[in-house]
Amino acid sequence: MRLVKLGGSVITDKARPLAFRSRVTRRLSRELAPFKGEGLIVVHGAGSFGHVRAAEYGLARGMKDHRQVEGTAIVQRDVRDLNLRVLDVLIEAGIPAVSLPPATWLELKDGRMVAFDAVPFQRAIARGLVPVTFGDVLMDTERGVAIASGDLLMAGLAAVFKPDLSVFVTGVDGVYDGEPADPGARLLRTVSPDGAQVVGTTAAEGVADVTGSMGGKLAEAFQVAASSKETWIIGGNSPGRLRSLMEGRRVKGTRVLPSGR
Ligand code: IPE
Repeated sequence: MRLVKLGGSVITDKARPLAFRSRVTRRLSRELAPFKGEGLIVVHGAGSFGHVRAAEYGLARGMKDHRQVEGTAIVQRDVRDLNLRVLDVLIEAGIPAVSLPPATWLELKDGRMVAFDAVPFQRAIARGLVPVTFGDVLMDTERGVAIASGDLLMAGLAAVFKPDLSVFVTGVDGVYDGEPADPGARLLRTVSPDGAQVVGTTAAEGVADVTGSMGGKLAEAFQVAASSKETWIIGGNSPGRLRSLMEGRRVKGTRVLPSGR
């Protein structure tokens, strides 16, 4: 079974609100299509359909004022809009994608995932369908609301499904030892929770990111690596890379190792 996250920085233009990158998403969908019948779950990020408004309404801080009620409704609506666009493109590529919005199967506790119902995923996969879920603003028993990043969902799903391969498809080629835009920064071939790498953690200027950019991703990626046979962070803007990795070939990117490796 394979678990793939299409990052918001690939499928949207994070610098422009509500900008879906349909061409790239279409190509990535075609790269995923050959694996649709082998147990596949797709998670996608919110990109500029989620982060901009979530930051505007301060939703990462929880529910503190009445305006955030409106903000929650708007962000949930916007990420569903993105989800529908992703579904359209996946289905067009021949992938029988079905949406499982996290609000229907998950409640957070202080920003963390507690037990969730994996049965809808299992039922869909058993019928040859490809479940699709996404980063969203959810109810939180302690904070009122909280952000569930797609990365957090990856960690929860990996713990249950123990994937052979988990992949984070991002806007950069992997994890760097500095800011990716810095010409001196080197791409790390592997990262592990035991290593003390310095990693670029800030989002690009002018880009809203309420879930911590690469630093936040890595914390979740280490969780994913703890329950996956192989875990990778790769770039989605290079044609064929995702497909090659899915076929079991070595590609440019960063392999995420579990602790002790
Ligand atoms: C964020 O999801 C969800 C919201 C802001 C509502 P992600 O953190 O997974 O999104 P990307 O991949 O960074 O865009």
